Amino acid sequence: GDGAEGGHMHREMLDQPAAAERVLRGRLDERFGTAHLGGLNMDARETRAIRRVKILGCGSAYYVGQMGASLVEELARIPADAEAASEFRYRDPVIEPDTLYVAVSQSGETIDTLLAVEEIRRKGGRVIGLVNVVGSAIARACDGGIYLHAGPEVAVASTKALTTMFLGFSLLALQLGRTRDLSIADGKRLIAGLQALPAQIEEVLKSEDQLALVAARLAEAESLFFIGRVRGFPVAREGAQKFKEITYRHAEAYQTSELKHGPLALISPVVPTVAIVPDDELADRNVAALHEISARGGPLVVVTHPDVDLGDVRCERIDVPRSERELDPILMTIPLQVLAFHAATTLGLDVDKPRNLAKSVTVE
Ligand code: BG6
Repeated sequence: GDGAEGGHMHREMLDQPAAAERVLRGRLDERFGTAHLGGLNMDARETRAIRRVKILGCGSAYYVGQMGASLVEELARIPADAEAASEFRYRDPVIEPDTLYVAVSQSGETIDTLLAVEEIRRKGGRVIGLVNVVGSAIARACDGGIYLHAGPEVAVASTKALTTMFLGFSLLALQLGRTRDLSIADGKRLIAGLQALPAQIEEVLKSEDQLALVAARLAEAESLFFIGRVRGFPVAREGAQKFKEITYRHAEAYQTSELKHGPLALISPVVPTVAIVPDDELADRNVAALHEISARGGPLVVVTHPDVDLGDVRCERIDVPRSERELDPILMTIPLQVLAFHAATTLGLDVDKPRNLAKSVTVE
């Protein structure tokens, strides 16, 4: 209940399968393998004119924005990237008429994101919002958008809102893709993948007891790495963000590909690494990196898929169900929430209200 330590975050984690259903409801077109997003307020001509997608958000919304940029590039083949809104608004950004700007925010009140939206609109750009709170300042400031229907999120660390943001990006990327070169077969493949997600999220959440044991061990470390590459890198960033926000441990995300260019120097038996290793074209390279860590005595937790062969790497293995490869990041994010949550409760911390942080930062 509310009184229990971390009651909100725990309840919000468990609400994720239902929240995923809500954001998808009524928006999937199985017949044409596409998504319907009436709130975007863009016609087919305007949609096809988009040459670039720029995503802006803060904190977890920024990291899920990076996942969203990958989705847009993969499904719609439109160049896309994400940037912290808190940086963007201070660098007198060039605003392009054929760029679609996307503001991502749970609260819809984050001042940096709001001021970024206002700056873009002042300079003549088009912005859509992926926002949870209906009628919030960011939602009102945008040209259109996708409401996330996550329901109220109270804990500072975002869980279900983040999951609905990922799905919002999946819908957007699907629709943009289908107005371009994404085949109807691929559209249908993704829709089936999206429809399977609520039950798969539920399945991941069922491994909470196993994850709690792993978390208790991670909680002992003063410093940890979270690593992933390409699709897995924003997952690692979000995992490190959650962990540091609520455990106060130093958690740093790195690209697995950059391991030899820095972090390997710090690997030792007291510095664990949480590695994201999906069953994709980079799995072999990722497993090679795990060997490098293992050889230096670094404890490993590996979030992966059942078919991935980790060889003789010594690790705690966490398997998540296979999805369509483009959708893998969200299922890999869920165990990282659970790890952070249980590490923080092991340490006796106030999970819902971590020190020094506010749920939304509305003043400069
Ligand atoms: C930060 C919170 O202050 O704001 C993060 O600590 C959150 O958890 C970020 O992701 C952005 O908030 P919002 O409401 O814009 O999604």
